[in-house]
Amino acid sequence: MRLIFLGAPGSGKGTQAAMLAQSYGIPQISTGDILRKAVKEGTALGEKAKAIMAKGELVPDEIILELIRQRLAEADCKKGYILDGFPRTLQQAEGLERFLGAKSIQAAILIDVQPETLISRITSRRVCVDCGETYNLFTDPPPADSRCRRCGGQVIQRQDDSEATVRNRLQVYEEKTAPLIDFYRQQRVLFRVDGEASVDQVYQQIVSVVQQMAGEIR
Ligand code: AP5
Repeated sequence: MRLIFLGAPGSGKGTQAAMLAQSYGIPQISTGDILRKAVKEGTALGEKAKAIMAKGELVPDEIILELIRQRLAEADCKKGYILDGFPRTLQQAEGLERFLGAKSIQAAILIDVQPETLISRITSRRVCVDCGETYNLFTDPPPADSRCRRCGGQVIQRQDDSEATVRNRLQVYEEKTAPLIDFYRQQRVLFRVDGEASVDQVYQQIVSVVQQMAGEIR
């Protein structure tokens, strides 16, 4: 199973990808998480990405493609994977096709959410600095002592989740990532789900897509 989760910042890609990865026993590959880990560890990649991410811009395609090429070569990807936040430009989508061959992606699932909902979700998001567990001040608040329920790490607001940066991220999404919707529609692998629904309802829609897809592959 090779899936892509498409959607604007805050649409719920990470939340849904984590749930699906757990149910199906395949890895969730989030380029955002890989980059944040590199920034935290102060690696060469992290040093390059830090300022770009803080502004809500995209890290250069060649860096991302190399990172993905290495990650997909790891043993846990043999049974499949969920790409969360990648590809984000046409160049990245074309690069992915070069690695995998044409028609290797079985579904690009677009989680569709209105811009005002996105801003509210992102500015109220909180995350664990250690394990990345995601919370939301309104729908899933972190414990009162700001310690992660999963690992005990500190729960914080992401640096790029301020309203000003979020607006720039949404603009970057419209300019650079939204064209991928047509790209995958033309390949007949685009599925749209209503991301305004509750987390569980969105998940049910995604599971239906995956079941439909599995039926077609069989
Ligand atoms: P990345 O980490 O990928 O951020 P993003 O795409 O902007 O997505 P988010 O993590 O903000 O949101 P999400 O859709 O995962 O939503 P979530 O599930 O958390 O990228 C960060 C940066 O890294 C980029 O800006 C860029 O600089 C760089 N980067 C990463 N990948 C790159 C690439 N391929 N190329 C170049 N640069 C790259 O949900 C959000 C909140 O809403 C949470 O609080 C959650 O609890 C809540 N929520 C979720 N679903 C629901 C629901 N149905 N109802 C109510 N609340 C919900």
